[in-house]
Amino acid sequence: MPPHTSTDALEEVRARLRAARRAFVLTGAGVSAESGVPTFRGGGQAAVWKGMPFSLISSAEMLERDLPAVWEWFDYRRGVLQDLRPNPAHQVLAAWQDKFDAFTLVTQNIDDLHARAGSRAVLELHGNIWRARCTLCHARTDLRECSNEDERPPACRECGSPMRPDVVLFGEMLPPGVFERAAEAAARCDLCFVIGTSALVYPAMHLPEIALQAGAYTVEINPERTPFSAYCHAALQGRAGEVLKAVASDE
Ligand code: APR
Repeated sequence: MPPHTSTDALEEVRARLRAARRAFVLTGAGVSAESGVPTFRGGGQAAVWKGMPFSLISSAEMLERDLPAVWEWFDYRRGVLQDLRPNPAHQVLAAWQDKFDAFTLVTQNIDDLHARAGSRAVLELHGNIWRARCTLCHARTDLRECSNEDERPPACRECGSPMRPDVVLFGEMLPPGVFERAAEAAARCDLCFVIGTSALVYPAMHLPEIALQAGAYTVEINPERTPFSAYCHAALQGRAGEVLKAVASDE
């Protein structure tokens, strides 16, 4: 049993899980922490790269100013992710995708670990670190299929223009349609999980707010309290892998 999670709260969430028809899940960096992926803010620290806060190196401004530097930062992060594997949190969520009449998994993460755990149709709010997108014609390519890894920035195979990481940088809009599809599902769900996010970044955090307003039973899973904890019906304090295994254990 996860340390700071009361038996009653866990029992209540299990009962809601059994009764739910339409489930909605929003995940953040914390869901990948047990895979070894560093979070951005958890534990009071913010990530820094070569003396720059990640919010600068991961910004539209930096893309304009120094595209190779942005590639260097994301190449470094791909290197960190290279040998990491999905953890039990990703696996439980993948197993849930066929459990309900409707199941929607939305992530702020760009690490592709949900898909690698077997989750289908993951709504990636912030893009995917394993993809590149052309700065001119917007053609996309999977970097795992790219032979010339040293070409930075890579040239678009369609139009030859420089490509950029296919992730949402600070100061940029979300990919067209992804938020809207997620918001529709949030408005219709009867059970909502918010897992491993500091609940600080919008518009992602509008989604659980929509689910709450629509009357969904809302559960937060995070070892720490967040600004969203007080609004939830249950805030299960613990690590996502352990808590989700406990929640799913009587299935
Ligand atoms: N299980 C669950 N939650 C965890 C775990 C764990 N094992 N370990 C840490 N956490 C929690 C932390 O307590 C923190 O609240 O995960 C949260 C991670 O917060 P952030 O690092 O702020 O990540 P996230 O909320 O996903 O950030 C949102 O901001 O930086 C941008 O685009 C980036 O998608 C990211 C967005």
